[in-house]
Amino acid sequence: MKVVILDDADAVASYGADIFREQLQAKPASVFGLATGSTPLKLYRELIESNQQGDISFSEVRSFNLDEYMDLPPEHPQSYRYFMDEEFFKHIDIDRSNTHVPPGNADNPLTACREYEGAIAAAGGIDIQLLGIGRNGHIGFNEPTSCLASRTRVKTLTEETIADNARFFSEDETQPQLSITMGIGTIMEARLVVLLATGESKAEAIKAMVEGPVSAWCPASALQMHPATVVIVDEAAASALSNPEFFKHIERHNQALLARIKA
Ligand code: F6R
Repeated sequence: MKVVILDDADAVASYGADIFREQLQAKPASVFGLATGSTPLKLYRELIESNQQGDISFSEVRSFNLDEYMDLPPEHPQSYRYFMDEEFFKHIDIDRSNTHVPPGNADNPLTACREYEGAIAAAGGIDIQLLGIGRNGHIGFNEPTSCLASRTRVKTLTEETIADNARFFSEDETQPQLSITMGIGTIMEARLVVLLATGESKAEAIKAMVEGPVSAWCPASALQMHPATVVIVDEAAASALSNPEFFKHIERHNQALLARIKA
């Protein structure tokens, strides 16, 4: 697990966006696993700008989102499909039919979960999986106690996650308590995982993920076993780490090595 500690949320977004830009230049027909939430918004805005300036194209990209609330139709403003359309897809040159979000309102969610896994496999697997992290260490909607080998399935949200996301729902709206989410096993098959976290509220989750035991109690800790995960955090999200200076030291050496290879 590579941990990159940067000054602020803007730097986190740029570092993450660079990984996507380089991937697109190397492989225009990449398969991206995408996330919703507040954290990736700045990264999406950077990619939109690069796309609109003609530096990168998403015309051959296929995407699979991590998760969706159950029983919300795609046109519902709180659905993750709506979020992705509004915040990203409608601003870039991606073919909307190549974008996939788990069907939260499927008649048979169990079949829909199996089909989602099948579609990811048929696309050749995910090249880069983008993740945020919940305060309780969740990735996707894989809440604490999730099976570390889980596949796409229906998952009940914790009280904490429901409370964290309540800000997006008005008082007269029923907030979903169930979701469809890629499993941790699904995420672990991505060839590269890029996890972003900013702000002090994520500090304990980052510490548990990076330093803690690999445990279903912190689902993100499974990424310690992933061969290519980059965790990009700002100083606040890194503030609970025991030895942030060591990660900065490693990153300085990585950058020097990269410069040498490119020279
Ligand atoms: C979103 C998702 C969640 C979020 C996490 C952090 O698709 O799967 O795991 O990444 O809840 O959310 P924010 O970024 O809003 O703090």
